[in-house]
This record gives sequence, structure tokens and C-alpha cells, in this order.
Amino acid sequence: MIPEEQKVLDAWQTSARYWDKYRALIEQMFAPLTSGLVEEARIGTGQEVLDIGGGSGEPSLTISSIVGPTGSLTYTDPVAAMVETAQAEAGSRGLTNIHFKQCSGDDLPFANRTFDVAVGRLSAMFFVDPITAVREALRVIREDGYVSFVVWGPEKLILSFRLSQT
Ligand SMILES: C[S@@+](CC[C@H](N)C(=O)[O-])C[C@H]1O[C@@H](n2cnc3c(N)ncnc32)[C@H](O)[C@@H]1O
Repeated sequence: MIPEEQKVLDAWQTSARYWDKYRALIEQMFAPLTSGLVEEARIGTGQEVLDIGGGSGEPSLTISSIVGPTGSLTYTDPVAAMVETAQAEAGSRGLTNIHFKQCSGDDLPFANRTFDVAVGRLSAMFFVDPITAVREALRVIREDGYVSFVVWGPEKLILSFRLSQT
């Protein structure tokens, strides 16, 4: 791992406790971003969804309820403290269709075409190699699946890609 990347991850490791402490406020504040992602990626009941850079648990926790017991949500984040807080929150909510994996968006440990949809809320700005990360997201979704990232910038921006073989 290059030093620049380690620095970013160390900063998130330190801030994880604050994302946990203020989770209710953050959940409320960023709810419109989650709604935008869900809408853009056409997420619905029974789908298998990947969250890249899930932090303290969103949008994973919300999406796990939307896909329901016939679907699943796979949460990922490269920072151990973020994974721990998200996992604890899912446990306290009794969610059973959510799985956790500590990994970076640049190197997803999943087979090709595992998911219907991949999303990331406010995480793509931290990809060290954004092109590789977008390629990875496209690799793990099924034909006609969607990849949607919401990122911050001068204006809120939702980037959405659809994988089509045609
Ligand atoms: C601003 S937080 C957003 C967390 C959460 N998705 C939310 O909206 O509340 C950014 C997250 O990106 C994660 N992150 C940093 N580098 C990453 C990478 N290379 N791949 C995936 N996620 C990364 C951080 O660990 C952190 O949890």
C-alpha cells in the first residue's frame, strides 16, 4: 500500500468513533443521498447489492431493509473500525441479510458478476485509483446491473453507470 493511501485509511480509523457517535444525525442528514442512490440504481426487493465504503453503515443498513429477506446486502470498507461499528449496528437492529467484508474499492474480493447493483455513498472521492475502482465495481455486477456513486464536490453529484453487454 502506498503511504498516501495508508494516511487516508488511518484518518478514517481515527474518525470511525465519531461517525458512530453521530450516526442518527448523519443518517438523517444524508437520507436524501441514499434515496438518490436507491432510485438511480433501481434497487428493489430481492436484489443482491454491494456497498463500497459503507463507513458506519449507510447506505447498507437502509438498503438491507429495501431488498428484504429474499435479497442481500454486502457491506465493504477498508477500515477495521468502520467495519466493527457497522457490524455492531446491524446486529443491534437484528438484520440478517447483511454481510461484511473489510476491503478496498480498488480490490474487491468477489467473483465476476456477483451482484445486481453496486453503490457507494460519499466514498468514491477516497479511491486512490478511481479508474481501477470503477472497473472493479463494473466487474462484480451482473449484465444490465447498475453502479451508482454519490460524491461531494461543488455540487452534489450522482454518477451512475449501467453495465450492458450490447
Ligand atoms: C465520508 S465516509 C462515508 C461512509 C458512508 N458511506 C456514509 O455515507 O456514511 C468515507 C468512507 O470511505 C471509506 N474509504 C476510504 N478509502 C476507501 C477505498 N479505497 N475504498 C473504499 N472505501 C474507502 C472510508 O473508510 C470511509 O468509511
